[in-house]
Amino acid sequence: MSGREFKKVDITIKSKNKDLYNFMNLVPERNKRIKKASADSIKEDPMNELADKLHPDIQHMIIDEVVDNTKSTKTFKLIPDSDSNTQSLAYFRAGQYLSLKVEVDGELITRPYSISSSPQEALEGYYTITIKKEENDGFLTPYIWNNWEIGTKVKSSGPEGFFYYEPLRDKHQIVGLAGGSGITPFISMAKSIIDGTIDANLTILYGCSDEDDMIFYDELKQLEQENSDKIKVVFVLSCEEVSLKGCETGFITSDLIEKYANVPNSSFFICGPQVMYNFVEKELEKLNLLPKQIRREAFGEIKNIENLSGFPKKLADETFTLKVHIGNIVKEIPAKATESVLVAMERAKLAPPSKCRSGECGFCRSLLLKGDVYISPLSDWRRDADKKFGYFHPCSSYPISDLEIKVPRDIRIQ
Ligand code: FES
Repeated sequence: MSGREFKKVDITIKSKNKDLYNFMNLVPERNKRIKKASADSIKEDPMNELADKLHPDIQHMIIDEVVDNTKSTKTFKLIPDSDSNTQSLAYFRAGQYLSLKVEVDGELITRPYSISSSPQEALEGYYTITIKKEENDGFLTPYIWNNWEIGTKVKSSGPEGFFYYEPLRDKHQIVGLAGGSGITPFISMAKSIIDGTIDANLTILYGCSDEDDMIFYDELKQLEQENSDKIKVVFVLSCEEVSLKGCETGFITSDLIEKYANVPNSSFFICGPQVMYNFVEKELEKLNLLPKQIRREAFGEIKNIENLSGFPKKLADETFTLKVHIGNIVKEIPAKATESVLVAMERAKLAPPSKCRSGECGFCRSLLLKGDVYISPLSDWRRDADKKFGYFHPCSSYPISDLEIKVPRDIRIQ
């Protein structure tokens, strides 16, 4: 196209679409302003200051209160550690999590925990996180049980994750399908609905194995009674003997969901242990929902990876050699086929980066230089370009040969 022809088109655009005209003139306008601007350096940067407050790399906190919820669940109230750089806590969206970074016997371990307090309470100066003691979590929860008390210092990321209500995408009616400690993001959402931060209604179907396992029973009942036009809670107990009145028994089936939810006009949010997803996902399939009607909280690393389809079972007992390049360190470490590459690096005290531990956030993204990994199909959220160029997420990948990998250093928490 000649220069003259281009001008003709430009004039047509000017008259027909002023927005597009402004867009095309962006660069000359920007250059004009840069030429006019002062050469003095900028002393205040309110946009970056706000971004740092909303998305801090690290938050230093101190435990202010510990509440025993059930025999296997505790809630910790965290306030800013005034001796550190954290003077206030980052605002968040109800449903997000904190990635805690804890040193246990010289190993730096990260774990994501949903925030059970509301965003409004963060502005008032605290978060709460509710932690269940998992029997097969050899790393962290036993340590927390034995060591965390009032005054203990705790480090975490800023608020993370995508499990929150978004009015542009989600229906006004939220249905929360919770299992065990998966109730925590829904407590935060319920409080946010009541204080007006979220304009939506919430029905929670809360599945538990027995009455002792129900967390926040009194709080949920109270929230429901005081706000019955917006909040409904249905407890679903799978044990044989149920003494509480008004509970459903059995599991969260499609029939039960239809009984309490206006299915076509609801968005479904799922949070709970992996076994619950396996069951509930099949039940939701029967309801013919649109994919965008279902939101899933990441459930952490896959347990019993050898049972997943496609995993080479004959390698389940193997241990491979993992050569890791991290920063300027190169180290060879052992890596079991049934443990994620991330866990192998943590055991070797290499402090690899991680946040969600579910393949979702991309924070552990690393380069596979040699060898093969099995990637969990339940948590393979790699971008297509990453698949093509050999990048993988160590938190959702398992060694099935000797490996050589290049891992970024975690510069957040030093
Ligand atoms: S820690 Fe989030 S993708 Fe691995």
